[in-house]
Amino acid sequence: MDQENQNTNKHTPVLLMKTLQILDPQKGDKYLDLTAGYGGHAAAILKLTGNYKESVLIDRDTEAVKTLQDLFKDKGARIIQDDFLSASKSLQGEGLKFDVILADLGVSSPHLDKASRGFSFAQDGPLDMRMDQRQTLSADTIVNHYSEARLRDLIQKYGEDPKARQIARRIVMSRPVKTTHELATIVARAWPGHSRVHPATRTFQALRIEVNNELELLRLSLPIWKSLLNPGGRMIVISFHSLEDRLVKQYFSEHSGNNYDAELKLIGKQPAIGDTQEIALNPRARSAKLRAAVKIKT
Ligand SMILES: C[S@@+](CC[C@H](N)C(=O)[O-])C[C@H]1O[C@@H](n2cnc3c(N)ncnc32)[C@H](O)[C@@H]1O
Repeated sequence: MDQENQNTNKHTPVLLMKTLQILDPQKGDKYLDLTAGYGGHAAAILKLTGNYKESVLIDRDTEAVKTLQDLFKDKGARIIQDDFLSASKSLQGEGLKFDVILADLGVSSPHLDKASRGFSFAQDGPLDMRMDQRQTLSADTIVNHYSEARLRDLIQKYGEDPKARQIARRIVMSRPVKTTHELATIVARAWPGHSRVHPATRTFQALRIEVNNELELLRLSLPIWKSLLNPGGRMIVISFHSLEDRLVKQYFSEHSGNNYDAELKLIGKQPAIGDTQEIALNPRARSAKLRAAVKIKT
């Protein structure tokens, strides 16, 4: 293992205790992890169910999948490298159902900590941001080849950045832009003065969402995840920004409540969030919001 991997192949699962309390895994339960990452949630849940053979762990990232194989393959868990929409459709096609489903969305710590993956402006790396390294679209393509109008629209829509127009203009004028530090510096010039968060945060979020088609995959997957749940089965979605959380909140509320055809019952009216102790130990828990539902028994 090279130096970078040795130092950065760690991910602490967020809201782990709350996830276990809410999902309430029982011996023999079938578990589907849609974003299994480095297996932190999966290890804790599978220890309780003991049912490795009928459980499925999905991730689109090659390095995460290698770790999942090392941890769970010998125990019999099925591991799939794919995006969760296409993998969920395949599972649906096979007629499979699960008792416990988890989607812990977004990036893992290794994505952010490894400069070479190009997700972070905290360290200098290439403009990459692909979760699945087999895909061709990268942040470099978007930054250096999208039209100014398309760049502005995506920074507005996915970054909700009020300076989207100025940022897009500056990026286009500075081409070619090759590294995360170069891009962060260009964006920061559109935001003179001090701000609490780094001025490039929103632009980086927007690029990441575009590169990985994050919102569209989530929107199209939610109905499939509902259909993959057994009656009485529990599902959790953990999101890390308001655009994702809005989609989950809306979907859960449309399919729960007093409608005669409601298939879900919400677990908790408000999303669960990290407490101060967890946030102090794991700053990535700061923006996590956990929403949960149970499939109504018919
Ligand atoms: C927050 S991490 C999950 C960490 C995991 N729960 C753990 O305890 O190690 C999110 C993971 O989801 C994966 N991911 C994000 N979007 C995905 C998608 N659409 N399809 C498949 N995997 C995805 C990422 O590659 C990343 O490994």
